[in-house]
Amino acid sequence: MTTPRPETLAKLTPVLTKRWLSPDAWRIGTYEQLDGYAALRKALKAHPDDLIQLIKDSGLRGRGGAGFPTGLKWGFIPQGDGKPHYLVVNADEGEPGTCKDLPLMTHDPHALVEGVIIASYAIRAARAYIYIRGEAVHAARRLRNAVQEAYDKGYLGRNILRSGYDLELVVHSGAGAYICGEETALLDSLEGFRGQPRLRPPFPATHGLYASPTVVNNVGTIASVPPIVLGGADWWKSMGTEKSSGPMIYSLSGRVANPGQYECSMGVTLRELLELAGGMQPGHNLRFWTPGGSSTPLLAAEHLDVPLDFEGVAGAGSILGTTATQIFSDQDCPVYATYRWLEFYHHESCGKCTPCREGNYWMVRVYRRILAGQGTHEDLDTLLDTCDNILGRSFCGLGDGATSSVTSSLQYFKQDYLDYIEGRTAPKLSEKTLVGAH
Ligand SMILES: Cc1cc2nc3c(=O)[nH]c(=O)nc-3n(C[C@H](O)[C@H](O)[C@H](O)COP(=O)(O)O)c2cc1C
Ligand code: SF4
Repeated sequence: MTTPRPETLAKLTPVLTKRWLSPDAWRIGTYEQLDGYAALRKALKAHPDDLIQLIKDSGLRGRGGAGFPTGLKWGFIPQGDGKPHYLVVNADEGEPGTCKDLPLMTHDPHALVEGVIIASYAIRAARAYIYIRGEAVHAARRLRNAVQEAYDKGYLGRNILRSGYDLELVVHSGAGAYICGEETALLDSLEGFRGQPRLRPPFPATHGLYASPTVVNNVGTIASVPPIVLGGADWWKSMGTEKSSGPMIYSLSGRVANPGQYECSMGVTLRELLELAGGMQPGHNLRFWTPGGSSTPLLAAEHLDVPLDFEGVAGAGSILGTTATQIFSDQDCPVYATYRWLEFYHHESCGKCTPCREGNYWMVRVYRRILAGQGTHEDLDTLLDTCDNILGRSFCGLGDGATSSVTSSLQYFKQDYLDYIEGRTAPKLSEKTLVGAH
């Protein structure tokens, strides 16, 4: 294991993670001792429009994957329309490899609760929801406890801190479907329907929850709001890069010595993150990795110095996504890894549109054939052709995301495919998996 050099350690910028190691960090008493709810007191004295402007000025971009500017999104909510407004926090976190929101809600749930109150005040919402993944029982318990503590202390409910502002906050557990992280499917699920994406337009900003103006934001986005209110837009912009401001929680998993969450200014590189994480596991050399979860195109060892911000990763042909860096070594097979992800997308496809529903079904079968030693050279063309028919032709981002590892693994690791097809690599799957595959 390598020890990080002081200059690399200095890359750590704990803002959202700064309380995680404090004893009982999830309790309101600890939170209040460590600046907790000070931002709310400040925000309630400001005009809601000024808060929206502050978030615009900070350059905060959504932490849910797409990096949409948060202040702009809040500004889309029509004011004076006489309709109820809603804030919905997307805490579904279902993307394989992604693990930044659940630790945040487990260790520091009040950071999210405080962010919810400020954001709701800014967009003039009187009701907010946190939609949390059903399996995340421990995080949901901590969150519900934090919400109750906030009610008991007068931070939620009627006339918050005697400001005249009222807010009800509901924590809703989903049933555990990846598609319910897609914001419009999430809204359908919250309304009690089967979670499937909605046609857009109209967008949630005007026709969201119960056909009313709604902001949907990721956990990390909303938890960034209190520090911005306290520290100011310039302080936030002093971290990160010009177009990707602030700190980001990078989750390292796989073949690293110390997997976990590392919060750094945006633009840190994988080389630096690996150093912070103690390097690769002994006996392993980096071969491929995802910059932001399984829906983002794979990168290779040659991309170690790519700045991990929205622009830097896009420049390398991938997507920053959820900053879930999954690390694979020379002992891992990119064909098999891609197959396992495809099994996931095939299983999680909601079935609403043909390219994703059928395309993933067939690609899984082609992969099984290749991995069972019965693939052909034409199978590689079939895979690319299928991806061509899914990408940009699917109803939502799930279908697009499914193609990422297929096309990128074929771009960087075609030889691995050929080694299965031409018999140089022993089959990884038995022929039994081929039943119904042809
Ligand atoms: C299949 C799919 C799953 C998604 N899962 C999540 C999720 O678990 N959490 C999340 O915040 N965003 C997820 N998103 C992105 C959301 O649709 C949406 O862009 C995001 O919640 C917006 O929040 P932000 O602007 O704060 O990033 C998903 C998108 C797709 C297509
Ligand atoms: S792309 Fe997949 S998940 Fe999205 S609507 Fe189509 S079938 Fe459903």
